[in-house]
Amino acid sequence: MIEQLSASKEAVAQFWNAEACGERYGDAQMEVRYGYEPEIETFARFASGHGREVLEIGVGMGADLLRWASAGAQVTGIDLTERAVALTRQRLAAAGLAGDVQVGDAENLPFPDASFDLVWSWGVLHHTPMSTRAMREAARVLRPGGRYALMVYHRRSWVAAAAWARFGLARGRPRMSLTEAVSHVESPGTRAFTASEVRVLLEDLLVDLQIRPVLTRWDRRFAPGIAQLAGDRLGWFLLVDGRRAS
Ligand SMILES: C[S@@+](CC[C@H](N)C(=O)[O-])C[C@H]1O[C@@H](n2cnc3c(N)ncnc32)[C@H](O)[C@@H]1O
Repeated sequence: MIEQLSASKEAVAQFWNAEACGERYGDAQMEVRYGYEPEIETFARFASGHGREVLEIGVGMGADLLRWASAGAQVTGIDLTERAVALTRQRLAAAGLAGDVQVGDAENLPFPDASFDLVWSWGVLHHTPMSTRAMREAARVLRPGGRYALMVYHRRSWVAAAAWARFGLARGRPRMSLTEAVSHVESPGTRAFTASEVRVLLEDLLVDLQIRPVLTRWDRRFAPGIAQLAGDRLGWFLLVDGRRAS
């Protein structure tokens, strides 16, 4: 059972409208992003987007949407915030790339069923209040056989433990759950999942479903010296890969 904590979508939008994800790195954002999170490249396989219709949910500053478009995909991107949409449109135009980018809500995607060959979303769906609905929406808009590729946060991870130490233990609330601790990370109400929760949620919609955590720079940072000991098992990123069932 997935524990739910309430936070409004307005609060989430306000948080990301104040500063888009990675905006603080300015012109170096792309370099910093793929340097800090090399998992993105290997998981995405951007070249596989050539000739495909790709939807990105939660474009942020648009780095990945540019990568899909550069690889020859026909791209559509949505984000909850005007700021992300404006930044991504500017970046596409500056690179001479085409793409349809609009404000939209992952929980109610403004597309008919079976509209895309590939749905990509990195670090987004755990931020929206009805994350589980959004994860199923992403599968709904995929064509049969289309690829579902997203990353959400993993609850059994070093980063979640560090959040518990900071927001629970250090504030005299050692009984705080990992779910509540993670709700204080980034935008209000952030969630994190286990692989089995995600499998139960999606297994009727997807085939060839692979769900695996990966140890990240953020785990190593919060648990220096020990994070590597458990390998990827306690990593912060949960990679979800599958194909839409026919
Ligand atoms: C951590 S950023 C990630 C952005 C980008 N994918 C990246 O990796 O840099 C989270 C993004 O999710 C967007 N977001 C949150 N809830 C959303 C929703 N319900 N629908 C669409 N986008 C949403 C936010 O506006 C923000 O741009």
